[in-house]
Amino acid sequence: GQCIFDALQSSAHLLKANYAWADVRYSRKRGTNMKRKILFPQISGLMHGGDYNPEQWLDRPDILEADVQMMKEAGMNCATLGVFSWTTYEPQEGEFHFEWLHKIMDRLYENGIYTILATPSGARPAWLDEKYPEAMRVDAYGVRNHHGVRHNHCMSSPVYREKVATIVNKLVDEFGDHPGLVMWHISNEFGGECYCPLCVARFQKYLADKFHNSIEELNKEWWTTFWSHNYNDFSQIEPPYQNGEFSNIGLNLEWKRFTTWNMTDYMKHEIAILRERTPKIPITTNFMKLYDGLDYHKMAEELDVISWDSYPAFHNDYESFSDTLGENAFDHAVMRSMKKDRPFMLMESAPGLVNWHPYNKIKRPGVHQLASLQAVALGSDTVQYFQWRKGRGSFEQYHGAVVDHLGTNDTRVFKEVAELGETLKKLSDVQGSVTKAEVAMIYDWDSRWAIDIMKGLSQETKNYPKTCIDTYRNLMRFGVDVDVIPSTADFSDYKFIVAPMLYMLKPNVAERMKTFVENGGHLLATYLTGYVDENQLNFLGGFPGDGLKDLFGVISEEIDTLYPSDTNAVHFPDDMVGQVRDYAEVLRVNDARTYATYESDYYAGMPAVTVKDTGKGSAYYVAARLDNESMQNLFGRILKRAGVSIKRMPLGVECHTREADGKVYTFYLNCSEQEQSVSDVHGYDLITEKQMDGTLTLPKYGVAILA
Ligand code: GLA
Ligand code: ZN
Repeated sequence: GQCIFDALQSSAHLLKANYAWADVRYSRKRGTNMKRKILFPQISGLMHGGDYNPEQWLDRPDILEADVQMMKEAGMNCATLGVFSWTTYEPQEGEFHFEWLHKIMDRLYENGIYTILATPSGARPAWLDEKYPEAMRVDAYGVRNHHGVRHNHCMSSPVYREKVATIVNKLVDEFGDHPGLVMWHISNEFGGECYCPLCVARFQKYLADKFHNSIEELNKEWWTTFWSHNYNDFSQIEPPYQNGEFSNIGLNLEWKRFTTWNMTDYMKHEIAILRERTPKIPITTNFMKLYDGLDYHKMAEELDVISWDSYPAFHNDYESFSDTLGENAFDHAVMRSMKKDRPFMLMESAPGLVNWHPYNKIKRPGVHQLASLQAVALGSDTVQYFQWRKGRGSFEQYHGAVVDHLGTNDTRVFKEVAELGETLKKLSDVQGSVTKAEVAMIYDWDSRWAIDIMKGLSQETKNYPKTCIDTYRNLMRFGVDVDVIPSTADFSDYKFIVAPMLYMLKPNVAERMKTFVENGGHLLATYLTGYVDENQLNFLGGFPGDGLKDLFGVISEEIDTLYPSDTNAVHFPDDMVGQVRDYAEVLRVNDARTYATYESDYYAGMPAVTVKDTGKGSAYYVAARLDNESMQNLFGRILKRAGVSIKRMPLGVECHTREADGKVYTFYLNCSEQEQSVSDVHGYDLITEKQMDGTLTLPKYGVAILA
């Protein structure tokens, strides 16, 4: 009884505050201090291009001739060459052929098409694996792979590094000062793991460095006394083989971190050659969404520009179209936030369809323009494709391309690409502008790995990435741009930070959160916050640990994992009811105010959402996984209270902003499948080339970009 009474008292207080929040008006002037950053000064305007594999067509000069002509018709100004060209460059060890690429790069350049040149290390020649089997990976059972496929070199192999260095140096000799060369693309879609003896040795060395050559320290941090898993020496430590030690969570996590470290080390080996020999040419590699196997935040530090490959499952049967696009927006935001002072690149996207989704549906008319401009809206200065022309054979013969097997420029797909090319030309002014977000969400690879590795909750519903994507989409409803940052990023740029399920607290994160709130920031954390430190040892004395229980004014005493059929709800003061799914923590509230309470079960009436003010800001704790609508409601209130400029968007309409040198570009994207209207829109529409003042009506998939 006491508990409910307290809850209502304090909720009434908070509710009053809510009405006050509604009065906060747009408080911040945009477009004042963001500097334009042009990625490629050689190219005027946004980049339009894609992966081009002329080496597959060297016996068809007529096709190579047609390619250049058609690229111009499609409004392309760049092509990515050489991604898997090793055997064409070097058909036998030490025998090199580059004339073909000279001809093609020259011809492209003469026709205004610039080259992004890849290093060919994404797939190895057969002669290499035959002669140097150490280049082939070993799997998690300790079995050496046979030759084949791609993206599967051993990251430690000295021989492979040497062979790659040779071919990369040759590429620089041949093309390093080609006027058409604008960028190096390192390998392709790094991924996977290797359990070979060379990698094991490097892992042991990595661990010895990390734990100061003290096996006692490692034993302590990994809690190895449990099940008598203590080690006497670093040489005893094996990777988490599937038929070996997969039960030590410390080992499992460190193996993931090591794999990122080792892959990055491999990548740096290629980068070092290029940086030294062609210091003016920027370097990238292509990322894949939230790929689980590598901490992209760490790899990003070594790159000049972030690029990634976007392949949403458009028109699927399990979510709305706007949710598909919303997840894509989230992915773009992840990439953009890795280098906030510059645009990123959409390195690959499918002009028509892909061949590797469970069902390979065609992109409906209009979706190409929408999805491509969504990338630009989120901060990409390029729209690029995999691939320019469909190959006749092998694994990807049915993967969509700008030019189909039909070979003509009058297909629907070609025409949509060419139309987009025309639109991109109108957007040259957007080039180099960036996004100034007032809101951030924390997404942390280490926390994700730790959540997945930990035994507990339900493996079926942990869903850390999905929770972050939902959070992003919920925030996007308010027309705000959201940066997606690691917990180690600077918090001071933001007014509101959401930290969903931040299970792991690295050193100083709690401290910096406290400073953020004291200085006026609004911080929202959820169930599963701050259970473990960076080595996954639990904090003692109450979660959220490392001092956060004081910042939030709560202690999470228990966490309940619900079966899919279990239901509970939370009640907010203004009759709003939120549905609880999957997880519910039972809180002990110290000095926070209770904002919402549980409806049922033994924790009925107990706090589920709380707030505590500290200094000039507030810390909100959401103890249960709530439905999207309630989270949107809550976010709406907090955004207003935090003084963030918001504009509630119709369902499925996205609003993103880029700015530079005092100019602001606002993108409205209708990612719903009906016509939608947004009121009070002002600016010069770069696509229709007309001034817009009033209500903007967008057809299904329609886009407007207002300067
Ligand atoms: C990835 C690769 C490409 C190609 C496409 C197909 O993004 O980088 O080489 O295989 O997938 O969608
Ligand atoms: Zn290896």
